[in-house]
Amino acid sequence: MKRIAVLTSGGDAPGMNAAIRAVVRAGLDQGWEVYGVRSGYAGLIGGELARLQARDVGGIIQQAGTFLGSARCLEFRTDEGKEMALNVLSQAGIDGLVVIGGNGSQTGAHALSVRGFPVVGVASTIDNDLYGSEITIGVDTALNIALEAIDRLKATASSHRRAFLVEVMGRDCGYLALMAGIAGGAEAVVIPERELDPDELAEEIRSCYYHRKKLHALVVVAEGATYDAERLVRHFKENRERLGFELRATILGHVQRGGTPGAFDRLLATRLGAAAVRTLASGEHGVLIGLVRGEIAATPLADVVTNRKVIDLDLFELARVMAQ
Ligand code: F6P
Repeated sequence: MKRIAVLTSGGDAPGMNAAIRAVVRAGLDQGWEVYGVRSGYAGLIGGELARLQARDVGGIIQQAGTFLGSARCLEFRTDEGKEMALNVLSQAGIDGLVVIGGNGSQTGAHALSVRGFPVVGVASTIDNDLYGSEITIGVDTALNIALEAIDRLKATASSHRRAFLVEVMGRDCGYLALMAGIAGGAEAVVIPERELDPDELAEEIRSCYYHRKKLHALVVVAEGATYDAERLVRHFKENRERLGFELRATILGHVQRGGTPGAFDRLLATRLGAAAVRTLASGEHGVLIGLVRGEIAATPLADVVTNRKVIDLDLFELARVMAQ
């Protein structure tokens, strides 16, 4: 192996830059040339590759986002798109590729791998829904951003007799909402894996004020829940008497992706990025590099794309017990 390329794809996550930096510098340390691909698979199809040296990735470890850019590329999902990408890689003399991203990105990595190209994935998404890594790059920072919002909202919620909803990202996975609910001391959590009927939720909110004499009732809602924040607001507007409280909702959205990566994400990204290079150097590929039982581990991409990561529902029960 002499020349590798690295790309970031899908939703950006805080720590992606640290992972790119790690791949570049660990690759240079092997004596290889390293190329950065702009804008994920779209840039790969379009041949947007540029050689990266150690200084090109200086000063990025603390930056959110990805300096290479990212994209969700429909063209790459077609057979023609994948063939175009493989042609670009072969014409540029690239003999190994590192793909930093979540589910969609690793599905793309697997598709190139089954076509015979040496690919190694690095687990990165704020959603923490990727099989093969117990925690992925970006989750910790996104969680801390949610907590900052929750702490602030609790202060204002305590000043009024209102119910507050905070909606967090996570696509169809409730991990961020559940963890933010536990760490933020929420009164209830609404996640797709354990749907809560709006009437059950209303009962919970009323019990916070009337029976448990709480000063606030704050509910963390996952964007993927059937009753997301928008739907809950609409439901209680139409059925005002069922709640009996004024309701305010805050949707965090992309704010959660743009935070300065914390120590955990910088370290995880650096370790996973360097491990991806070591994996390629050892001749192994077609795997995702992630964290399994606290250790860096390689999981076949074939398993990553065919298995679903499930969240531990004991934690949902813990959130309920802690909300007394
Ligand atoms: O996968 C990361 C994520 O931020 C999800 O939590 C969210 O549902 C989605 O991406 C948003 O995608 P986009 O940035 O394309 O709007």
